[in-house]
Amino acid sequence: MIVNKKIALPIAVIGASAALVLSACSSQDAASTSATTSATLQHSTGQLDAPVIVSANGTLESTLTAQESQIPYNGSTRWAMTYNGKVNGPTLRVRPGDKVTVHLINKLNEPTSLHTHGLHVSPKGKSDNPFAIVEPGQSYTYQYSIPVNQRAGTYWYHPHPHGLTAEQVSSGLSGAIIVEDNTDDALAKVSTDRVLVVTDPAIVQTNPVSSSSSSSSGGMGGMDMGNMNMGSSGVDMMTQMRGRTGPKLLTNGLDGVVLTGSNGKLERVHIVNATSSTRIRFTFTGDSMMQLATSGGRLQRAKKVSGIELAPGERSEVVLIPNSSGGELQAQRLSNEGNGGQTGAVELIAEVEASAGSDAATLPATLTSDKRDLFAKDVTVAKTRVITLIGHMNPTIDGKLFDPSMVNITAKKGTVEEWVIENTTPMRHPIHLHTWGLQVQGTQGWQDIVDVPAHSTAVVRVEFDDFTGKTVLHCHILDHEDTGMMAVIKVV
Ligand code: C2O
Ligand code: CU
Ligand code: CU
Repeated sequence: MIVNKKIALPIAVIGASAALVLSACSSQDAASTSATTSATLQHSTGQLDAPVIVSANGTLESTLTAQESQIPYNGSTRWAMTYNGKVNGPTLRVRPGDKVTVHLINKLNEPTSLHTHGLHVSPKGKSDNPFAIVEPGQSYTYQYSIPVNQRAGTYWYHPHPHGLTAEQVSSGLSGAIIVEDNTDDALAKVSTDRVLVVTDPAIVQTNPVSSSSSSSSGGMGGMDMGNMNMGSSGVDMMTQMRGRTGPKLLTNGLDGVVLTGSNGKLERVHIVNATSSTRIRFTFTGDSMMQLATSGGRLQRAKKVSGIELAPGERSEVVLIPNSSGGELQAQRLSNEGNGGQTGAVELIAEVEASAGSDAATLPATLTSDKRDLFAKDVTVAKTRVITLIGHMNPTIDGKLFDPSMVNITAKKGTVEEWVIENTTPMRHPIHLHTWGLQVQGTQGWQDIVDVPAHSTAVVRVEFDDFTGKTVLHCHILDHEDTGMMAVIKVV
């Protein structure tokens, strides 16, 4: 039994207003402007759900101001880093082929940047360039062209300044990106469309890094490899190794939400594991849970699952079917070490009302999914690489710490590569590649993060179908990324 403060979150309006905005705009040829639907629904403590910005006429434009803020929490306030002063950054809803412009204004006291995790967009210039940095007081305009072959699904954006990413993401800087296609139109007729961004920040009143004056790993100099003192990482070496976590999981900034106002539609939720380092298992106490998508986009058809496990950075889309007393979407945090056992209590994510829709047969029989099979017999593998995860206290890719001036992997545009990722460490590492999807051998299918358990090997294939330029692959335990578990890949 969970004792938790639940807050009703009748965000069905998000899907409804999005649909309204879309149909209103497609039936007129007015100048392109994206629409902001301030997602309304206030609860008793006055906290709002993140705003939603929907692309219109093929474009979306948004301003994100990164700043330190006091945000509402449990009848009081807490300190956080925010986009635009809100718990989560706005949800960006786009379609394949859209042009997206984001003005990032840095009002933090440290550098930041923006990464569109999972979008198949160019890593060059002002697009999804992980080497670009926005200094304090500066602003930067990112421009993304979402290709027509972008898979519909649940993606997200977050900062990526090397050495500060874990701190900034765990302090609250992230938001969801939903890419929609025709399947979404069909799903919208029978289901709600909620976005649950799950985080586990420190619950604090002031910036924990700037208020702790001492260097975090000062006494450990003999054990580090030269870069444990990443300036303001703000946590000790042990925490960097395990990955920082907060006291509890928050859902859209709240201690669990209640999904109301479904009007008999199926409850469909996009879940983003936006923690910096926490692996989470989600289960549902109602009748059943149907998975529609992984981090790599939609499955061929909805699949009944007993639960889903999301490594930090992973996302999923599920339908929650209540029983006669409703149901609770619950979560357990899992360890990144060894066999990955449970580390804490069962926590409430979302409560589904008994009146929500329960007829799974109303879901579309098939979903638009990625039909490519890079493991098919006729696929030519241009290159097979072994990528080794080495080191316990200071894990690395192939024994080398991240060096932005170096190129660790050079691949050719137009080829398919096979990567054999060998984890020689006693921890699990969720390895993420920017720009291109990963097809994992076995049942995991398309992903953008491959979760490699301790002392085991994962095999993935990557098709460098589009784009040249330099980007990165890294562990999505962001404390590992910050301490150097990141490599540079250049596609020529
Ligand atoms: Cu979500 Cu390079 O990361
Ligand atoms: Cu990414
Ligand atoms: Cu790792």
